[in-house]
Amino acid sequence: MSLSEEIKQEVDKRRTFAIIAHPDAGKTTLTEKLLLFGGAIRLAGSVKARKANRHATSDWMEIEKQRGISVTSSVMQFDYAGHRVNILDTPGHQDFSEDTYRTLTAADSAVMLIDVAKGVEAQTIKLFQVCRQRGIPIFTFINKLDREGKGPFDLMEELEQVLGIRSVPMNWPIGSGRELCGVYDRMKGQVELFQGKDHTTIEVKKVEDYNDPIIREMAGDYLTDQLISDLELLDVAGDPFDYEKVRAGELTPIFFGSAVNNFGVQTFLDNFLQLAPKPGAKVSESGPVDPTTDKFSGYVFKIQANMNPAHRDRIAFLRICSGRFERGMSVKHVRNGKTIKLSQPQQFLAQDRDIVDVAYPGDIIGLFDPGIFRIGDSLSQGKDIVYNELPTFSPEIFAKVSIKNALKQKQYQKGIDQLTEEGTIQVFYSASFNDTILGVVGQLQFEVFQYRMQAEYGVDVQLHPMTFQFARWIVDDNIDPSKFRINSTLVKDKKDNYVALFENEYAMRTAMEKNPTTKFLEVAP
Ligand code: G4P
Repeated sequence: MSLSEEIKQEVDKRRTFAIIAHPDAGKTTLTEKLLLFGGAIRLAGSVKARKANRHATSDWMEIEKQRGISVTSSVMQFDYAGHRVNILDTPGHQDFSEDTYRTLTAADSAVMLIDVAKGVEAQTIKLFQVCRQRGIPIFTFINKLDREGKGPFDLMEELEQVLGIRSVPMNWPIGSGRELCGVYDRMKGQVELFQGKDHTTIEVKKVEDYNDPIIREMAGDYLTDQLISDLELLDVAGDPFDYEKVRAGELTPIFFGSAVNNFGVQTFLDNFLQLAPKPGAKVSESGPVDPTTDKFSGYVFKIQANMNPAHRDRIAFLRICSGRFERGMSVKHVRNGKTIKLSQPQQFLAQDRDIVDVAYPGDIIGLFDPGIFRIGDSLSQGKDIVYNELPTFSPEIFAKVSIKNALKQKQYQKGIDQLTEEGTIQVFYSASFNDTILGVVGQLQFEVFQYRMQAEYGVDVQLHPMTFQFARWIVDDNIDPSKFRINSTLVKDKKDNYVALFENEYAMRTAMEKNPTTKFLEVAP
């Protein structure tokens, strides 16, 4: 087999996706069930145990140990039904950061997990928006169907109202909560029964359609009548399944189930793997790059510092975009023009790190980083390829930073420069007061910043929270700073661009209305 045929075959097999959810929706539980189907973990509960006992693993970053969280959210890989599946873990609540957003750029599709009782929650909205902007397909799993929750039509309405996306249910619940009887699979024309006292027995029955008497026998008149009227309404008024719209991220297929009971998970996985895209062409400065070309290329989307403090090592996470990766291969580090040897690449399975010998587009590898990588760096074989996959994100939390010991000014500046370059935080300077202001999307970024300033630069910094909530880059041929003093605080970024910081949406809207010719950009121009 030629190299390009081999790469094509491997690309066809791959599905690389992220699960986006608000904390507690059941992401850990779902991930674990998916891994179990792939035979990737032997014991149920091991992912969960990992979540609870993270501090037991001795070599993670100190900050993680203190909080029992994982900043090192990584990648889980398993084989299932002829596919090679890569799940990118996006960290939850407290460890939410720009890294979370960046990780989404490495995914080819997303699974949006929603708690049936809570509906669309805050963190889901943010993550959804990033996926939406990238135009990747989004699949919805409504979880905890064994509990009382919102009705399926209400949830569809919520997706449309809150997220602006239309949906097409792939299956439909028969009853709910304590009365949950099963789901009707609209695509396959079968019912999956949810049975037994412990609600874990699952039986699949082929039926003619939703009018099949088998359903009435099993679910009784009340639930069957409800099901029939719901499905008739869906057939008439619902969106038909449209593959092109799904692929464009304009229509989300919905699956109902219960992760903890392993109900509906396998059906979901089977359908998802069928419908989700394989790794496609990625955009570079010189145009799209076909993943099946012979030459290897990829980009760093995340750098994890101090995974092992004893060695002060860092891991750069690289998404492979084209060609075949081989251990020990030499590639060009495009930004600095140097050729480097990739000798100790790692792959991730739950928390065990394995050395990887070969990898293909869609795979994520961890590269040992002695300090040569920055977020966004491209590596390539053959001609230089520079990927443009990583946008910056508009900060939402701000703090003024000051140094405790003025004698350490030099290290302080060096630390700020390097950590902003690495993408740990964004920095702004106020013209009038000489203040240094940091902006982040998640509180954790401040903690990582503080910790790393101390650990790596020997500088103690103090952070003073500020009440701003929005940053907008001001673009105008002729900026009159005085115009922005009323509703906002005007600062500059590292490249001397003007940025207005607002305390609330009202102030921001007013400023926009008063300056109709000015552009207010969410990210740096
Ligand atoms: P997360 O990673 O998204 O934060 O959520 P996680 O999987 O940890 O799940 C959060 C809670 O929701 C867990 O309960 C979990 O067992 C429960 N859960 C997940 N899927 C389902 C489901 O389909 N139905 C029901 N009823 N519950 C579900 P917990 O009480 O926090 O933990 P545990 O005591 O169950 O381990």
